[in-house]
Amino acid sequence: MLQQPEIGRTLTNDVIASGANARDERWREIYAKLVEHLHAFVRDVELTPNEWLEGIRFLTATGQKCDDVRQEFILLSDTLGVSMLVDALANRAASAGTASTVLGPFFTTDAEEIPFGGSISRPDDGIPMAVTGTVRAPDGTPITNAAIEVWEVDGAGQYDVQYADRVEPNGRGRVRTDAGGRFSFMANLPVSYSIPGDGPVGAMLASLGRHTMRPAHLHFSFTAPGFTPLTTALYVGDDPYIGGDAVFGVKPSLIGDYVRSGTGADATASLHYDFVLVPERTVARV
Ligand code: BEZ
Ligand code: FE
Repeated sequence: MLQQPEIGRTLTNDVIASGANARDERWREIYAKLVEHLHAFVRDVELTPNEWLEGIRFLTATGQKCDDVRQEFILLSDTLGVSMLVDALANRAASAGTASTVLGPFFTTDAEEIPFGGSISRPDDGIPMAVTGTVRAPDGTPITNAAIEVWEVDGAGQYDVQYADRVEPNGRGRVRTDAGGRFSFMANLPVSYSIPGDGPVGAMLASLGRHTMRPAHLHFSFTAPGFTPLTTALYVGDDPYIGGDAVFGVKPSLIGDYVRSGTGADATASLHYDFVLVPERTVARV
């Protein structure tokens, strides 16, 4: 049977060819593949002019929603699973290290240094939780003086940067490991929370019948000389959203051993986890 020519094939080829003088080979490849796949998508769904205009309006609104503390494009990447796909590709080689997961849009660079055993949260922000653990190399050697950024929502399910009257960091801090690779700090038992749903990404999720919830978790980001930086989080295993994270960030190995005790005003919690960082040179370059 005679094959129908692809509609717009010459156009697609011309657009790809227009990138022949790209500044380097990798950018030329990314541009060519982006055009190839984007045009294939338009052909595949037979996108109408009105639908394309709606798409452009959506992307415009996504950009307009971004400011110093609101990053709607990260939300878009996360809710479309692109962040976790990029993460899966970057970490495809079997690794002896702790698994990574999404950074999310709420990391800030102004967290204060918290002394060993100190608290990252104001009192009464939630159920107090003692967090302890170790940071080691794959052979078990403790990693001394690793810097660990930790951040989480308060008991109301909000990050500090979501409060217009924020004057200083809360629910976040930088802790360090001691000579035995140990760390220790106080935080709150994390709660499940909604990612920001008042922008175009929230509207997209609503239009798809999707919810905006993330299962409770505590974020960690590690840096230590000679080791590959790691961004990860520990999830609460019995959270109602553990099987339906709005941003697909949960991995089984990142379910933390959150232990609750007491009730009411006497409620407390604890979490212990031993992290493994991989030496810089053993990470696969992709
Ligand atoms: C977070 O865990 O902070 C987060 C991740 C992705 C999107 C929104 C929030
Ligand atoms: Fe989070």
